[in-house]
Amino acid sequence: MAETKKMILDDNVAVPVHVGVIMDGNGRWAKKRGLPRKLGHREGAKNFRTITRHAKAVGVQYITFYAFSTENWKRPKDEVDAIMELFEKYLDEVRDFVEENIRIRFIGDRSALSENLQRKMASVEEDSKDFTAMTLVLAINYGGRDEICHAVKAIARKVKEGALDPEDITQDMIEANLYTEEIPPLDLVIRPSGEQRLSNFMIWQAAYAEFYYTNILWPDFKNEDFDRAVLAYSERNRRFGGV
Ligand code: IPE
Ligand code: IPE
Ligand code: MG
Repeated sequence: MAETKKMILDDNVAVPVHVGVIMDGNGRWAKKRGLPRKLGHREGAKNFRTITRHAKAVGVQYITFYAFSTENWKRPKDEVDAIMELFEKYLDEVRDFVEENIRIRFIGDRSALSENLQRKMASVEEDSKDFTAMTLVLAINYGGRDEICHAVKAIARKVKEGALDPEDITQDMIEANLYTEEIPPLDLVIRPSGEQRLSNFMIWQAAYAEFYYTNILWPDFKNEDFDRAVLAYSERNRRFGGV
């Protein structure tokens, strides 16, 4: 058990099965220091590795990090290029997790990413597919609306082929066509940096998630802050529409 768990979390705490993290505030972190935004992204990328290991120690089974949204292409080209370069590095470093029994998956539309990135993603997914300690999900070129649109197209194709009656479409069927196939819904969404919105992150999967916001910028977000979020989650009363 992690040291920090002893400090903030005790054994009675209800650990969320699936935590989503919207890694926000890299740009403001850099600006505060008079540094270029890309250095904020570099710092944020380092932090994601620290928090991943800590989440595993706490007993989280799935952790999803929002790294790049389908809307982030709107940013200046040099910033987007710097982020894409970082992913290349990330993916080499993410390989370390393969030694730690962590399964790695990616969600999002890969077709817009470089072939090299796509190759690295497929290879790390393949090499970690039997690992069971925790699943690390990276959302890259991910958008919740885009994901639902993608699922609707797949289902519509079955209808067109005559293999499916529209009346037989179920929520399970929609879920099975999302990028998160076989990944449980989100229990807790953490968003640092002070913004209180989803920004198109897992809109289907977050339907009954608990939200935790903090003003801390992502590169400054520590293991202890993660524990505070888990503790807050543990004190919530989830009703799922019941009483
Ligand atoms: C999050 O940090 C990283 C990405 C969206 C890629 P931001 O770059 O959005 O940081 P702020 O919000 O400008 O501080
Ligand atoms: C959300 O952050 C996307 C990621 C963290 C990858 P943004 O910084 O893009 O979100 P908005 O624009 O503030 O809503
Ligand atoms: Mg932001």
